[in-house]
Amino acid sequence: HQVDLLQLLINSQNSKKKKTHKALSDLELVAQSVIFIFAGYETTSTFLSFLVYELATHPDVQQKLQEIDVTFPNKERPSYDALVQMEYLDMVLNEALRLYLVTGSLERVCKKDVEINGVFIPQGTAVMVPTFILHQDLGLWPEPEEFHPERSP
Ligand code: HEM
Repeated sequence: HQVDLLQLLINSQNSKKKKTHKALSDLELVAQSVIFIFAGYETTSTFLSFLVYELATHPDVQQKLQEIDVTFPNKERPSYDALVQMEYLDMVLNEALRLYLVTGSLERVCKKDVEINGVFIPQGTAVMVPTFILHQDLGLWPEPEEFHPERSP
């Protein structure tokens, strides 16, 4: 009876509030679990490895980031409200995600004919957003290969 994602999904199938929500089928439950493992595991572990590397090679950033100790003294349990107050942590994460974005591009399918800056995009076209290129744009990020959390928006 431990509380984890899988148990919550199974509980939702047995919920008595059947009238107010549609329970997931067994197949949907397995599909959701597989997506969470694929989308959540490698992305998070790879990103955290790069983040730790940047902190190890930028001891000044690491020291400043120890505001964590002030926000959660005596290894207090982190709360969401306190976490969102931690601006420097947010800047460090944003800058690391700019450099190591895990997914180099995003895709969307155009829902209706549209013209943007003189370029006509017909309905049904797959449009790619080159996030990696944007994250290296010299006009937005001087010395784009450098890790500078202070420049994070
Ligand atoms: C550092 C960690 C992560 C990164 C860098 C990351 C990155 C991304 C990106 C770039 C997308 C595509 C978004 C888009 O097309 O607009 C995405 C989608 C998604 N991610 Fe993550 N992700 C991370 C962690 C996770 C975790 C922990 C989970 C789940 C436990 C997860 C589940 C998903 C799912 C389900 C989608 C598809 C959403 C949809 O199509 O509506 N991701 N992620």
